[in-house]
Amino acid sequence: MYEKIISQNIDRLKSNSEKYSLRKKLFKTDDVLPMWVADMDIVTPPFIVDKIQERLRHPILGYEQMPDSAYNAQIEWMKRRHDLHVNREWMRYSHSVVASINLAIKAYTDIGDKIIVQTPVYFPFMSCIANNERHILKNPLKVDEDGDYTFDLDDLKSKIDKDTKLLLLCSPHNPVGRVWREDELMALAEVCLQNNIKVFADEIHCDLVFKPHKHIPFSSLSDEIRDITVTAIGPAKTFNLAGLSISTVVIADEYMRKSFDKVYDSIHFAEGNILSHVAFESAYMDGDVWLDELMEYLTCNIQLLQDTLSRYDNRLTCKYPQGTYLVWLNCKQLMLNDRELRELFIKKAKLGLSPGISFGREGSGFMRINIAVPQATMKKALKRLTHMLEFI
Ligand SMILES: Cc1ncc(COP(=O)(O)O)c(C=O)c1O
Repeated sequence: MYEKIISQNIDRLKSNSEKYSLRKKLFKTDDVLPMWVADMDIVTPPFIVDKIQERLRHPILGYEQMPDSAYNAQIEWMKRRHDLHVNREWMRYSHSVVASINLAIKAYTDIGDKIIVQTPVYFPFMSCIANNERHILKNPLKVDEDGDYTFDLDDLKSKIDKDTKLLLLCSPHNPVGRVWREDELMALAEVCLQNNIKVFADEIHCDLVFKPHKHIPFSSLSDEIRDITVTAIGPAKTFNLAGLSISTVVIADEYMRKSFDKVYDSIHFAEGNILSHVAFESAYMDGDVWLDELMEYLTCNIQLLQDTLSRYDNRLTCKYPQGTYLVWLNCKQLMLNDRELRELFIKKAKLGLSPGISFGREGSGFMRINIAVPQATMKKALKRLTHMLEFI
């Protein structure tokens, strides 16, 4: 139904897209095909854009609260797609998941406390902790010889102490693409429960999961686990709405909600922009078919990438991601240091990717590529990659 629309090639050069406009600054050239920041070069669904245009026909753009109908659309979506039961009173508007992480850090920890991150991981996790003068407690993911990542609970247990107050969970995981299984999450939750550690579950990528994998909301594991959890969810990644800055925070436990609200109210988050409200509601009301087709489309892009890599003796390898549209490329066989690796991709492939090292030391030797692009762009990228693979 939507394949033709999803395949559309859109020129983003004139729309001030960060992915394109920051090329010179980041890669020292405008020549690279940018496949770094986590938004899509695939159109935002037209049924959402129509709702925004419809709203703009009203001549007044004054203050608005996000209506309950929008919150309810997200509640129904989470129930329908993820088996998660959320009450309206548990939800707060947030213009940014990263802002919500900062609020949770302020609400649940004090200066000097330790906060756990499972590296390699979305780099703002680290900067949020450092900026709030808390200590980063690294619990690197464990990786086996096949390149499969999992939690390292022995390492975690050995490092926790009385000052360890919060764990920042990335689920599904950016950048390694894992969709955590229920037993893995359960085991992690047990450690947190036993040690009085609260969990911020960043589940912004929860809808972007490839079959047969299934996203398990951390807070759905048990009532007890729900009551130590703050969950961040939103339509930004799923429906390419990052520029509208909208997400929600879900906190079931009343005491935890009160602590969060104290910080939240102190900085006046207000209720966001009015165009994001209609987009949010429309995405969750009408987005099911779009999302299912998008995931099929992204699957083809990953297949194209894997086919290309396999033609070159797997000098670069990647695990089929279980979730997210970010693919974690293992470049260790090239035996280059991280600076050389980045240069190689910029100069010989003319591709602007995210260096693995930016997600923590454990990402050394990796590059992250964003494959949420129309197939024509994917093929262009693979031609460039092929050129690089022939060169090395
Ligand atoms: C795991 C994760 N959390 C948060 C964000 C950003 O969320 P926001 O733009 O709402 O701050 C991203 C964006 O890439 C992400 O990958």
